Amino acid sequence: MAIIRIPDQNRTLRELAEITPYLASIQIDYERWEAKQPVTPDSPPEEILAAYAAEIQALKERGGYVTADVIEVTPATPNVENMLAKFNREHWHNEDEVRFIIHGRGLFHIHPSQGPLTAIEVEAGDMIRVPRGTRHWFDLCRDKTICAIRLFQDASGWTPHYTDTGVDRHYEPVCLGPSYLPSSSLVVPNTPGTRS
Ligand SMILES: [Fe+2]
Repeated sequence: MAIIRIPDQNRTLRELAEITPYLASIQIDYERWEAKQPVTPDSPPEEILAAYAAEIQALKERGGYVTADVIEVTPATPNVENMLAKFNREHWHNEDEVRFIIHGRGLFHIHPSQGPLTAIEVEAGDMIRVPRGTRHWFDLCRDKTICAIRLFQDASGWTPHYTDTGVDRHYEPVCLGPSYLPSSSLVVPNTPGTRS
């Protein structure tokens, strides 16, 4: 389940019944998808796409997407830092940014034209659609690992247009989920004094 934070209001949403309508209010589509057959992080892309074929087809028809692929990023991905640096500054695209998370985590910051700036931490099972023209930026969590299905209306349109406002520097890319525990919060079992 995604975790929604609205930093300027000091609000966090963790329940589906709150998350979906809140995100709809800032024009972000959010769905939970379930695989028709089991997939693992090691499954080949065609198996991953087949497991979610019905959802992908429905979304294609709704949004005019023509292609879908699977992207995987790990700390071992060549030039991973350069790749991530392209997307962690505020930008927008000429087409929708649609992601369905297979495994790993990521953090979208959405800067709506109306409504508060919102951080969306996505994990396995989350589908998010950021409409074309929406200002946003994206970070991975500390383990720098994500595998996601992407859908495209026209892959050539998926170029970041940077706003260069610097707003992204005012919001810490902090993930709250299990893969991003600050070291100070780790508890060492059976060590006196570490449990409260
Ligand atoms: Fe983007």
